[in-house]
Amino acid sequence: MSLPKAELHLHIEGTLEPELAFELAARNGVELPYADTDTLRKAYRFEDLQSFLNLYYELMAVLRTERDFEDLANAYLARAAAQGVRHAEIFFDPQAHLARGVEMGTVVEGLGRALEHSQAVHGVSTQLIMCFLRDESAESALETLEAAKPYLDRIVGVGLDSAEVGHPPAKFREVYEAAAAMGLRRVAHAGEEGPPEYIVEALDVLGVERIDHGLRCMESPTLVERLVRDRVPLTLCPLSNVRLRTVDVLGDHPLPAMLDAGLMCTVNSDDPAYFGGYAGDNFEAVRVALGLGEEQLRELARNSFLASFLEHDEGLRARYLAEVDAYEF
Ligand code: HPA
Ligand code: ZN
Repeated sequence: MSLPKAELHLHIEGTLEPELAFELAARNGVELPYADTDTLRKAYRFEDLQSFLNLYYELMAVLRTERDFEDLANAYLARAAAQGVRHAEIFFDPQAHLARGVEMGTVVEGLGRALEHSQAVHGVSTQLIMCFLRDESAESALETLEAAKPYLDRIVGVGLDSAEVGHPPAKFREVYEAAAAMGLRRVAHAGEEGPPEYIVEALDVLGVERIDHGLRCMESPTLVERLVRDRVPLTLCPLSNVRLRTVDVLGDHPLPAMLDAGLMCTVNSDDPAYFGGYAGDNFEAVRVALGLGEEQLRELARNSFLASFLEHDEGLRARYLAEVDAYEF
C-alpha cells in the first residue's frame, strides 16, 4: 500500500534478503550452511522470538565491510520507498557486529553512506537508532554506548532488543540514564513476549518515549489507560507477530481493539526479509485481514509521523502529514 508513512520499527539487519545474503557471502568468502536461497527460505519457520533470533544472528556473518552495510541499507530504502515509506527510523545492533570483530565505525559509516543520500536517491528521510542487546550484560551496553561516542551526530537515539523474557528493562537503567544525558532519544522493545510490567518499567525506569511492540499492554486495563492518556506511541509489527507466534493468525490481531481503545498505534515491518513483508505489505495485510477502513489506515499513517523523531524539522513533518491527508485510496 502506497499510503505515505513513517517506519519506526525496522531492524536493518532484518532486511537482509536471502539473495543479498548469498551475494555478500560470496563477496566476503563466508560459507553459509544453506545450499541456496530456496533452502535458506525454508528455514524461515519460527516457533518464537528466540528461534528467529538464532537465524538472524547467524546470517549476520556475511556483513563485514562498510560497503556491505551500505548495500544492505540501499536495498531496504529502495523497497521501503516503493511501499510509501517517506521517513525511516532505523535500528541497528552494534553488539552483534562487534562480537564478530566488525567495528562500530564500519557499521555506522557504511549505513551512513546510504542514509546520507537517501532523501535525494530514494525520497526517504532517515534517522539511526542504536539498540542494545538485552540478553547481553549492562556493562556491555555501557561499553557500546562509549564506542558510539564518535558517531553521536548520526545517531538520534537508543533502543533495546533481542530476547525479552528474563531481561527486564530495569537491567539497563544506567545506560539509559547515560544516553539521556548525551541528548539521545529513548525507545525500547517491551510487551512483545514479555509481560505488561516490562512496558511499565520501560516507561518508568528507562524513560522511553515510544514502546516497540507493546502488544501485551492489552492484558492490563490500567496500563492501557495510561498509554492512552499519555499518548505513548506503540510501534506494532503485525506480520512479525504472526511469524513469531505472538498471535495465531492475523485475523486475531488486537490492532482494531487497540485503535478502539484510543491507543496511539503505528504499523511497521520489524524484520521484513524474515517476516513476509515490508511496511506497505503490513498495511495491506491488516486492511484485508482485519477489515480496517480508510480512516483507520489514515490514522495509523498520521500516527507514524506524529510519533517520529522529526522535531528538528517540523516543516518536514507537516508536509508528510499533509500528504497523508491528501492521499486517495
Ligand atoms: N524482537 C526483539 N529483538 C529483535 C527483533 C524483534 O522482533 N528483531 C530483531 N531483533
Ligand atoms: Zn523489533
